[in-house]
Amino acid sequence: MASSSSAPLRVLTGITPSGTPHLGNYVGSIRHSVRQSVAPGVESFFFLADYHALIKVQDPAVIQRSTLEIAASWLACGLDPERVTFYRQSDIAAIPELTWFLTCVTGKGVLNRAHAYKAQLDKNIAKGEDPDADVTAGLFMYPVLMGADILMFNAHKVPVGRDQVQHIEMARDMAQRFNHQYGEHFTLPEAEIDDAVATLPGLDGRKMSKSYGNTIPLFASRAYLQKQIASIVTDSRPPGEPKETEGSALFQIYQAFADADETEMLRKAYADGIGWGDAKQLLFERIEVEVAPLRKRYEALMSDPAEIERILLIGAEKASALSQPFMARLRHAVGLRNLAAGRDKGSAKAAKVAKPSFKQYRERGDGLFYFKLLDARGETLLQSRGFASPQEAGRTIAVLQAERGAALAAVAAQIEPIDTEQTRAVTEALEALAEATTTTDGS
Ligand code: TRP
Repeated sequence: MASSSSAPLRVLTGITPSGTPHLGNYVGSIRHSVRQSVAPGVESFFFLADYHALIKVQDPAVIQRSTLEIAASWLACGLDPERVTFYRQSDIAAIPELTWFLTCVTGKGVLNRAHAYKAQLDKNIAKGEDPDADVTAGLFMYPVLMGADILMFNAHKVPVGRDQVQHIEMARDMAQRFNHQYGEHFTLPEAEIDDAVATLPGLDGRKMSKSYGNTIPLFASRAYLQKQIASIVTDSRPPGEPKETEGSALFQIYQAFADADETEMLRKAYADGIGWGDAKQLLFERIEVEVAPLRKRYEALMSDPAEIERILLIGAEKASALSQPFMARLRHAVGLRNLAAGRDKGSAKAAKVAKPSFKQYRERGDGLFYFKLLDARGETLLQSRGFASPQEAGRTIAVLQAERGAALAAVAAQIEPIDTEQTRAVTEALEALAEATTTTDGS
């Protein structure tokens, strides 16, 4: 699962739950990401960045409502929680813990240069105010929390808008610093900016954006959608007069939904002098064809929050199966360890006497082959299920030795279930074993 060349490409996307999505979000990100998420060879992680939302939104009801709406929106747009890992950031206990680890390897000077933070300072300075007015430490730490989101799951690619590229670079930097200090634990993530994806113009022709107040909500009622489309800015040319498509917001929005033939048809209609009213009607109908089924699903989901909660908790379980053992490994790496377990390098002898070990054996009763992982005192930490051959048992041991805690999710079917506490102990033991194993393993 970890880093072999056949391993799937991990793509991770965080969505801050603030407000409801508009058509620009749909065309510019949601639709594309949902399609990408089912591409072969891709393992997708989507999460609701609700810890991030707390930085900006301090109204609890708004946080809850937005989280629900954004989750419902993505599911309504076809995100398949069976195929991707779809979870809520705040359900992953290891994220704040990793945030702290990364905080301790991140230069304050690096964070001083983060765009969002700097923009706030510049604004304050321009107004003659205290530079730090209205700047929370949360805003300052935003990139570290985001780094933890990404590095927690060793994502290779992070699709983002241009405004987020700096954050991905910072996450890379954190990974490098941590790896340098504590060994190769993190994959270095890369930003993925898809320039093919359209930016949609809004009602006034500028980029559709909440900050311009020119958006068309994705899931408003049919009637409201029609009304909004009617208010797209055009000019005063009457029907019959030819119109050029260049610079026409109406045309660009149509194009974002239509296929090549449909687009050609509208291009021709423009040349033939279609009236703005008729063009708007065509646009409305075209959007409605795509959005109506999504709206129906959205409304069904919004009326059943318990179902969304259930989906998110399943996602949290999937994600935690990866993050928990990985976090245990990271804790060990930085030195947050069981004090009674083998000591660190430098006391190789002590490690040799007191190191964990694998024990393979055959059970008389069923004739199957088993293994155990024993701690330094000979207590069983992990018990395998029965294998048909000693080679199969050996292969599972090899996976555990090579990938340590990160392998626990992959070998779950081959071992007796373990809880969080045991997961941590097993991961520590595997780490200690890997460290001590410069000698051959005789078990
Ligand atoms: N900061 C991102 C945004 O505003 C949201 C986000 C939080 C995110 N954590 C992430 C995006 C991790 C990608 C990866 O859009």
